[in-house]
Amino acid sequence: MSEHALMSDPGTTGRFGDYGGRYVPESLIPACHEIEAAFRDAWADPGFRDRLTTLLTVYAGRPTPLTPARRLSRELGITLLLKREDLTHTGSHKINNVVGQALLAQRMGRRRLLAETGAGQHGVATATAAALLGLEATVFMGERDIERQELNVLRMNVLGAEVVPVTSGSRTLKDACNEAMRHWVASVGDSYYCVGSVMGPHPYPWMVREFQRVIGEEARAQCAAELPAAVPDYVVACIGGGSNAAGTFAGFVGTTARLVGVEAHGGAAATSGRSGVLHGFRSLVLQDDDGQVREAHSIAAGLDYPGIGPEHAHLRDDGRARYATVTDDEVVSALVRLARTEGILAALESSHALAWVIRAAESGGIAPGSTVLLTLSGRGDKDIASIRELL
Ligand SMILES: Cc1ncc(COP(=O)(O)O)c(C=O)c1O
Repeated sequence: MSEHALMSDPGTTGRFGDYGGRYVPESLIPACHEIEAAFRDAWADPGFRDRLTTLLTVYAGRPTPLTPARRLSRELGITLLLKREDLTHTGSHKINNVVGQALLAQRMGRRRLLAETGAGQHGVATATAAALLGLEATVFMGERDIERQELNVLRMNVLGAEVVPVTSGSRTLKDACNEAMRHWVASVGDSYYCVGSVMGPHPYPWMVREFQRVIGEEARAQCAAELPAAVPDYVVACIGGGSNAAGTFAGFVGTTARLVGVEAHGGAAATSGRSGVLHGFRSLVLQDDDGQVREAHSIAAGLDYPGIGPEHAHLRDDGRARYATVTDDEVVSALVRLARTEGILAALESSHALAWVIRAAESGGIAPGSTVLLTLSGRGDKDIASIRELL
């Protein structure tokens, strides 16, 4: 596949090379078709695009700034620029996608949003958009994540969303997705499933990437203003399902920038997964020898997922993007280092991307003098209790 075709419209089959597609029960096929048709129609409608842009601006706080990390850059011998998704309303990039999907749900006449959440950021964003547009919200969350992201559970409650604890399996994001999909089958007539990352059946991986593309497009223009070469040498983002990375990469896929996605060591589907089907799509999935999905393990609830979005699997096979892993210890140390050099408390998820940059810069994997754009996907307030325990 040529570079031009990368990160474009995957067509009606929703395929990215060997990955993607639509592997759902018969009863959900019409719903997927309906959402695809509605999204194509809305995305071509200047009225919808205007409304989305206005809400992202006056409500969600876009454009987000590009902050040069001056002291840390000096320590690392590189130029590090941070795309500040942590400064959006609700504190992460998840709001970009959710405002888009909530407007779509409203346009389709749905009155309730269903969502899964791991770190709780997608759940908070969904509860927020539902309140804004007068919709109901039901959010499925693993019991283990409810314990470690208590602040976000309280936020969802205050915003009026119902948070449904999921007690099956590892009680984390994978199990919350299972439950949300089960519920969607049962309530497809009046509910809209607001998927939180570039995963799920077609059209979700493509649609969510398009809603997150705003990160990459803004960053591309900001880098052009900030950097003599206009384009950074590296573009780096963390990967759970892969939405902040996909949105960022979409702005740079046609440039010379090297694209790097960073996964948790214990949730490294791009580096150790095999082709398989999970939650309605084919992608790289952590599996045992019998093809059973293996549990992921990460200190970051938002990266505790055994798969990656199908487009990332394709970008990996194509060689256009590379994928790396970092350990929990490297992540905690990166989080503290950013806090103490720049006064920015990043989410544990985002700190994965930073941990890779620090390791690569210190080991010569990134040459001295290089320019690096890093998407800081969210703020770390939600992680304070976990950080206290880890430290
Ligand atoms: C702050 C933050 N960053 C990253 C992620 C991972 O999601 P994605 O890979 O879809 O960007 C999450 C998920 O909850 C998150 O809360």
